[in-house]
Amino acid sequence: MYYPDEVVEEIRQKNDIVDVVSGYVRLQKKGSNYFGLCPFHNEKSPSFSVTPSKQMYYCFGCGAGGNVFTFIMEYENYSFQEAIKHLADKAGITLPEIEYSEEAKTKESKRAKLLEINKEAAKYYYFQLRGQHGELGLDYLKDRGLSEETMHQFGLGYSLKYSDGLLRFLKGKGYSEEIIRDAGLANVDEKNGMYDKFWNRVMFPIQDINHRVIGFGGRVMGDGKPKYLNSPETLIFDKSRNLYGLNFARTARKNHMILCEGYMDVIALHQAGFTQAVASLGTAFTSGQANLLRRYTEEVLLTYDSDEAGIHAALRALPVLKEAGISGKVINLEPYKDPDEFIKNLGREEFDHRIRQAENSFFYELRMLEREYDLKDPDSKTKFYNEIAKKLCGFSEEVERENYIEATAEKYHIGFDNLRKLVTTYAAKTGMATQAFRPKSGIQSKSDPDAGSKRSQRLLLTWIADEPVVYKQIKSFISEEDFTTDLYKKVAEKLFADLKEAKMNPASIISMFTDEEEQREVASLFNTKVEQLETLQEKEKAFRDILLSVKTNSFEYYSSRLGADVSALTKVIEARKSLEELRKIPITLET
Ligand code: UTP
Ligand code: MN
Repeated sequence: MYYPDEVVEEIRQKNDIVDVVSGYVRLQKKGSNYFGLCPFHNEKSPSFSVTPSKQMYYCFGCGAGGNVFTFIMEYENYSFQEAIKHLADKAGITLPEIEYSEEAKTKESKRAKLLEINKEAAKYYYFQLRGQHGELGLDYLKDRGLSEETMHQFGLGYSLKYSDGLLRFLKGKGYSEEIIRDAGLANVDEKNGMYDKFWNRVMFPIQDINHRVIGFGGRVMGDGKPKYLNSPETLIFDKSRNLYGLNFARTARKNHMILCEGYMDVIALHQAGFTQAVASLGTAFTSGQANLLRRYTEEVLLTYDSDEAGIHAALRALPVLKEAGISGKVINLEPYKDPDEFIKNLGREEFDHRIRQAENSFFYELRMLEREYDLKDPDSKTKFYNEIAKKLCGFSEEVERENYIEATAEKYHIGFDNLRKLVTTYAAKTGMATQAFRPKSGIQSKSDPDAGSKRSQRLLLTWIADEPVVYKQIKSFISEEDFTTDLYKKVAEKLFADLKEAKMNPASIISMFTDEEEQREVASLFNTKVEQLETLQEKEKAFRDILLSVKTNSFEYYSSRLGADVSALTKVIEARKSLEELRKIPITLET
């Protein structure tokens, strides 16, 4: 962190969370809290809460949460430093300059420069399109059915036939060759020296969710190759974490997003009123993009090209969506190739119809799989059914699996019992039974063996934050060292120090973290209610189990480090002692 903690804390205190959030979200007071529609995902009834006493917000729908810095970071897509600057300005606090390390300062100012130069370039292309020599580009775009208004909204532009137009323009504005090259706007080679990356193309500026230009795609106006030329990745342009059109789509307020392949598809869809459309940036759909979408929606409809390449891309994108907790569906575009052509030929009503008919991802996958088999041939048909059984084994939750077995049986005219038997046999035969049929607890994920111990650490912190009085009872047994997950350890350290002074300040704990995801996680620690258990005994037992689990994990953790870590032995001895004591003494939660 570059600014001293006191300064960060002062800025936080001078920016009341209710005031700041009210600038963006309409809040209504209910009891001691405020509620409104969550700005980070689409919803119809308010699950977004702001708690003045804690100076925090939390969405019970999507899990977004944090303090006033987190809010600004998430809403404006700012870095922690940018959020601090913004809120300092708002509160009239002058920030000390000196606290930036040289390296950080250079990087930050380079980011700013790159954003600035991209904006200049976008303006340049924009005016070329509308200028004396832009007719070719303008005709091309009009020919493709785009209105003036659409071209303006997406900031479309044109790069001239000369290979140094932009270069001269930017140099004239005082930019160095180095920064022009670092922005990906020019190439250099031995023969030609430095020249524009884009020329004689219609230009599509790529914006981040905050409408800042971070790169470009340029299309040839005919059959030249490559069809689209894109900016390379730069300090400000990470293709795996941005989506074309999301700056508009994020406020579309639909219960789904539409994911397509191309810039033109997004633009055509927006023009037709489907402002929930986005596209990846000339690369495969990534998990970073899926997580970005998850903030706004739980359902994504794919409208990939209907050719083989498009099907292949859809089959790869669906699991990525699933992994991020998004349910995927596929829109059928037949007989057209892509959404742009579809809209042009069949219009928006028909597209709307196709949206409502979008196919569930599982059945889409089955249908694509089916193409590889000849169902008239018994052998081939058997193989296909076995593949179906295999796929059904992928549903680890019983109810879900049963539902899918039922639906699949009906769809493919297989008897329900037969298909079920096939699934069970397949599971047993391949030893998948234990793995795939283990009920999904939400605790133990296959990919993360530490998930269980992480969860106990998390629960313990949540419990203490929710009922700070319990800390007194356990403070002789537990310390921050028992939290083996780095993030939780930092939280525990600050939380315990605060509690020792009989105060608690969750919002200031959040500011210790500069990363948005970390802030989000810490916020959720402080906004989760301990589950209401029936009786006090049940509650005491649950608390004791969590405590023991954290302590046991810590004991095992340090034991495994004996020899490698000199301080481990002391910790092991200490942990064993407290474990023994903990097992003996009763824990009473009544106060
Ligand atoms: P498509 O070839 O499907 O193009 O590429 P399109 O979107 O239908 O474009 P039009 O309608 O012919 O103008 C889909 C996306 O793949 C990337 C671009 O992001 C494009 O929007 N792409 C395609 C490239 O980056 N380079 C290429 O040469 C082609
Ligand atoms: Mn197209």
